[in-house]
Amino acid sequence: MAGKQRQGAALVTGAAKGLGACFAEVLAGDGFDVILVDYRANAARERAAELSKRHGVRTHVIEQDLTLAAAASNIQSQCESLGWPVEVLVNNAGSLLNKHMHELPWQQVEGNLHLLLKVVLELCHRFIPGMIQLGSGHIFNVSSASGFMPGAPLMSVYGPAKAFLIPFTETLNFELEGTGVHATAVCPGLMTTDIFASNGLDAIRNTVPEWMWMKPDRVAQEAYRAGRRGAPVYVSGLTNRLAVTMARFVPRALLRGRTRLLHGGGIMDLLPRAGIASDKPSGQHAALVTGASSGIGKSFTEVLASQGFDIILVARRGEILKAHAEELARTYGVRAHAIVQDLTKADATEIIKAECERLGWPVDVLVNNAGFPVTELFHRMTWSQVDAIFRLYVQSAVHLTHALVSGMIRRGWGRVINVASTAGFEPGSYRSSLYSSSKAFLISFSESIAKELEGTGVSATALCPGFTKTEWFSKNKLNNDYVPKIFWVDSEQVARAGLKEALRGTPVSIVGTPAHRVLLTMFQIAPRHALGRFLSNQRRSKVRV
Ligand SMILES: NC(=O)c1ccc[n+]([C@@H]2O[C@H](COP(=O)([O-])OP(=O)(O)OC[C@H]3O[C@@H](n4cnc5c(N)ncnc54)[C@H](OP(=O)(O)O)[C@@H]3O)[C@@H](O)[C@H]2O)c1
Repeated sequence: MAGKQRQGAALVTGAAKGLGACFAEVLAGDGFDVILVDYRANAARERAAELSKRHGVRTHVIEQDLTLAAAASNIQSQCESLGWPVEVLVNNAGSLLNKHMHELPWQQVEGNLHLLLKVVLELCHRFIPGMIQLGSGHIFNVSSASGFMPGAPLMSVYGPAKAFLIPFTETLNFELEGTGVHATAVCPGLMTTDIFASNGLDAIRNTVPEWMWMKPDRVAQEAYRAGRRGAPVYVSGLTNRLAVTMARFVPRALLRGRTRLLHGGGIMDLLPRAGIASDKPSGQHAALVTGASSGIGKSFTEVLASQGFDIILVARRGEILKAHAEELARTYGVRAHAIVQDLTKADATEIIKAECERLGWPVDVLVNNAGFPVTELFHRMTWSQVDAIFRLYVQSAVHLTHALVSGMIRRGWGRVINVASTAGFEPGSYRSSLYSSSKAFLISFSESIAKELEGTGVSATALCPGFTKTEWFSKNKLNNDYVPKIFWVDSEQVARAGLKEALRGTPVSIVGTPAHRVLLTMFQIAPRHALGRFLSNQRRSKVRV
């Protein structure tokens, strides 16, 4: 991106106003032709005309609603017709949900998830190959300083999506080294744009002091300069940078308390809340466990069945799953039902939901656990692979939670356990594009809905196991010889501890050996980029994939 002779154009989403408009201005000022993407076509056209007049660059407007499934492919085909190769991509568009997730229809939650995350992944995936061909490119993924903080109420999709984008963008830098393509996660704090007012959340302007707000034009200029210097992450303003740095040294439970203060609580509210009633209530309850055919999921089914829960098991390997369901029923005298389903399929969660309704069992515990390792480089995967991983780790967890939590609230008791990983606390590194980011999403998502569900009798827990002895490594031919014995726990230990913490209502539970906890503490306080580099070098040299 040196000099003013630009090979390609810049594409900015949500470019009609706010930060997107400011980014378009900065890029046009630096000599790029600009493609403005927005659903507010008239406002975008006005903006485009101003840019052409002021900076003498070409502009083009693509009218597109980014909550729609075909958005990214429409954008790419319009860029191809235009014949302007995209050299700079700014994934900026975003909006907030103004209600708790369980109060909204699934279509709205899904649209928000698509806008904030899936379309970002798809645009990156579609435009990276062209940038590699040009030998030059830059991706700015607009995250947020809140992406470094625990999840908060009214942020059930926004916060987790932003938490996902930070390690994802860091990973792109490691995976694209030597190609001329770079990426920067842009993490603004509060900005004086319309995002709060246009989502019915203007009250925040009166709650947060004036000095905490920044103007979007300054954020765009600084972020662009930081990106050009090669910064993988840009956090706006000294206060936010201090907050993000300090967050590394403060226990997460204490940071979670900050949201109560922002939402009108007193200073005592900064303290983490005591656990809630920790026993399973009497009566018949069922638990749905995904990835129940082996490992942690299988252990969960045993621990839950031993406590009298009926079990609904979900996984792909039908024979194993059915045999295990029969064994659970025989051993523990509970009802057990197997749903053979691949969670990477588009209609999987709808099928599971319908099957639960047909069974009519009161599903009061949901364990989102299914997973397989993701080791391929992001730009080497096909889009259908990326899409499948996104569905498995992110979309199915959010959808099943949304589908089942209302029933739990109605019955006055329930637990959602999202099996994340200690990897969810790590910076992005080589070959971790979708795994650690998805786990970071699940941690923030669990914290956010735990807050939204306070007072309903339902709670959510992100369970973060360290290295766990399961089929994970052998089945997927992953080398784990380099991990010392002192770091390993077994799956039964993970399930027991996870359920205990979930019953107590703990929002985040880490299960690992003492040695692993020491390592995690060191990871948390280590400089982020240096740690990402260290982990990348480990993966390059030691992990056989
Ligand atoms: N093992 C570790 O060190 C470790 C550490 C931290 C977190 N975790 C997390 O723990 C969870 C469970 O992993 P694990 O170690 O127990 O591994 P595992 O023994 O390989 O179990 C994975 C489970 O997920 C199911 N699954 C995979 N892909 C699926 C799909 N597309 N649709 C439906 N089910 C699918 C598998 O069943 P089928 O093959 O029959 O479908 C299996 O039951 C994962 O989310 C993982 O990220 C593991």
